[in-house]
Amino acid sequence: MSSNTKEIDLSQYPYMDKGLEGIVAFSSRKSFIDGQKGELYYAGYDIDTLARNSTFEEVCFLLWHERLPNKSELDSLNTTLREERDLPAEVLTYLRTANKASEPMSVLRTAVSMLADSDPESADTSAEATLRKSVRLTAKLPAIIAGFDRSREGKEILAPLKKKSIAYDFLYMLNGEEPGENAERVMDVLLITHAEHGMNASTFTCRSICATMSDLHSAVTGAIGSLKGPLHGGANTAVMNMLLQLDKDTDIIEFVKGKLERKEKIMGFGHRVYKTYDPRAKFLRTMAKDLASEVDMEYLYEWSESIVKVMKEEKNIDPNVDFFSATVYYSMGIKPDLYTTIFAMARVSGWTAHYLEQLAKNRLIRPRLLYLGERDLEYTPVESR
Ligand code: CMC
Repeated sequence: MSSNTKEIDLSQYPYMDKGLEGIVAFSSRKSFIDGQKGELYYAGYDIDTLARNSTFEEVCFLLWHERLPNKSELDSLNTTLREERDLPAEVLTYLRTANKASEPMSVLRTAVSMLADSDPESADTSAEATLRKSVRLTAKLPAIIAGFDRSREGKEILAPLKKKSIAYDFLYMLNGEEPGENAERVMDVLLITHAEHGMNASTFTCRSICATMSDLHSAVTGAIGSLKGPLHGGANTAVMNMLLQLDKDTDIIEFVKGKLERKEKIMGFGHRVYKTYDPRAKFLRTMAKDLASEVDMEYLYEWSESIVKVMKEEKNIDPNVDFFSATVYYSMGIKPDLYTTIFAMARVSGWTAHYLEQLAKNRLIRPRLLYLGERDLEYTPVESR
């Protein structure tokens, strides 16, 4: 019997077991993050400019093609995105029969996987077919999310109106009434700010699946599973669950300090790449303030600001995208357990853009492990153990 560990100089592997922090594994033209300055660009355009001026559909085109569309290209994409919003019958049946207590992210993951069954090009991994499937997936995710939410409430699943933006149709299918201009714009900005973010965990999952030459539906299904975790996209739901534990008598400073003393994470804070204010959080902070006051929920924004202050003083950690987005969603009347599905509805554009990029210069992703176990153990039959 010999143990491997004694012979290994672990200092040769300084990056090991550090969650790949700082490792540059891919080159990309999709997005750029400056974690020190707090800047984010999608294919050359800074997030603030896009959030103020563009639409989610335009951002999808930008991420897929690495340039902004001209008018006729955008019109054509909008038309296809509208036409492709219907769900196949088997997915509608699934949404009607799924366990009402299921997590919406689990239902979304299953339904996206099911979409492959009815997609005529599901197994075609050519760039052309992948782009067409990217458009179809982006068009259909909102109908899945809204459909399950209505079905679990015993309401009829609504067909898309197909007349306006993804944001507009999503809010219609969810609430059963056509949204006003302001609500549509807020949802559109949420989708823009969540569309793409470098080599995050779910995008890494998507690229790893793509690199085996598996199909787009498999890659997006895997990415949804990765996004679901509370250290990634699931943080926005966790933020609201935390805010809902508070009331007007809560001492926020003691609440936060207590959590930190117990070594609990405060959801919606911290980031692997940003060492300063997440630029998306900056944008969403203003939206959260305005919206919370519109619906007489200023207290949510005020509690949030108090938490930001304590976290800065105690840990010097700033909020990330998930912190203020929770208040924005809540002020719009959206249920907390749907927040991560809306993140997925936006990020599908980034995932599919990365799939296309990986496909264009593919090599199997296959890192190594350092084995620390024993070798040459003697095998004893089960009866003798
Ligand atoms: N609350 C309290 N302490 C924190 C937090 C937090 N949210 N985030 C980091 N820290 C502390 C952590 O305890 C550690 O302190 P110490 O060195 O004293 O042990 C230090 O900061 C480094 O933290 P880490 O967990 O090693 O950092 P990481 O780069 O591995 O993790 C993170 C990044 C985002 C997973 C982490 O900050 C976190 O768990 N945040 C809460 C969950 C969250 O909001 N996730 C959403 C991320 S942004 C959107 C997305 O990508 O989906």
